[in-house]
Amino acid sequence: MAIELTATGRSIPSRRVTNDELAKRLDTTDEWIRSHTGIGSRHLIDDKTACSDLALGAAWDALGQAVEQGLVQEPSAEALAETLDVIVLGTSSPDYFGAPASACIVQHKLGAPHCCAMDISAGCSGFLYGLETASGLLAVAEGRKRALVIGADVLSLFIDWQDRSTCVLFGDGAAAALLEKTGAPGKGPEKRGIIRTILGADGSGEEHLLMRRGGSRNPYHAGERIDLPPHYEMKGQAVYTFAVKTMIELIEQLLAEEGISLDAVKRIVPHQANARIIQAAGKRLNIPEEKFFMNINEYANTSAASIPIALDEMNRNGLLRRGDVIMLIAFGAGLTYGGSLLVW
Ligand code: ACO
Repeated sequence: MAIELTATGRSIPSRRVTNDELAKRLDTTDEWIRSHTGIGSRHLIDDKTACSDLALGAAWDALGQAVEQGLVQEPSAEALAETLDVIVLGTSSPDYFGAPASACIVQHKLGAPHCCAMDISAGCSGFLYGLETASGLLAVAEGRKRALVIGADVLSLFIDWQDRSTCVLFGDGAAAALLEKTGAPGKGPEKRGIIRTILGADGSGEEHLLMRRGGSRNPYHAGERIDLPPHYEMKGQAVYTFAVKTMIELIEQLLAEEGISLDAVKRIVPHQANARIIQAAGKRLNIPEEKFFMNINEYANTSAASIPIALDEMNRNGLLRRGDVIMLIAFGAGLTYGGSLLVW
């Protein structure tokens, strides 16, 4: 048995905002943002769009690809949606905090009647946490065969747009992967699908990246005046240090545990938070920059959506060939981290 990623899709807001546009209303410059982060633009939602809308778009895109490319027997994306057993949605910006899960809204709108659906809150590691959760749910029950794993975030709604050290970093987006339990080998030299995953957390970094308002730690009190919507606060340098260290450790650990060299890995797909984080980790490990897939220039940090957006771009641009070994590396609020090796 193998758990394979068979199709991918994405949904990116059409509104593209360049650094120069931000610099018109904020004390920043295109030069500062590019040189400190590698970001050139970001895509932002309009005020009618919520997390589940983007997630739904990404889901249809992935299901549509599976049908168009003849990867499934179902004749339409709608018919394929009906066969889903699991939907897992990684997000830190759901439609509603608490309940219901945005995954349930997606499940209903897709028309997936026999399906469990849940959100996962693991910051930018949400997609990797989602992959492992969905894989486990498929593996433990014989009757479950198909899952949709989505990463979707609309952090532009939860940012202090006066705080130049955070607001320039984030963009909105969603992407999805169809996961199937197949008869391919999950072990041995011919193994396919997700072959190894490491997940972890370090909650001592609670204060490094958090949304203070809206939760039970800091509830609203009657009469209180709130002049800013709930928004993320970040200790940029602490997150930076954690991210570089974590990327290095995850790459080394995945290779050592799998008993392969870096040459066996076609591409590393890291979370796109800051190009400098990726470059610093690459330099420490002597990995050429071309080995890392990067699209942060266009999308900025789309949080849980960043890795699946990258995967979908690679997939649709012919950069993924059957049999390629791909490494996914994530880190995020929590603090959380995760790494996966998969055979495409
Ligand atoms: N434009 C111009 N100047 C700026 C800006 C800006 N947008 N932002 C900060 N500055 C200024 C600061 O005010 C500071 O000025 P000062 O020296 O006069 O005080 C100066 O630039 C340097 O600030 P630093 O914070 O030291 O800048 P640094 O080089 O550390 O870069 C950054 C900041 C980009 C935030 C970096 O620390 C970083 O990328 N950290 C990781 C962030 C991250 O990955 N977050 C996502 C985590 S994943 C998730 O779950 C969402």
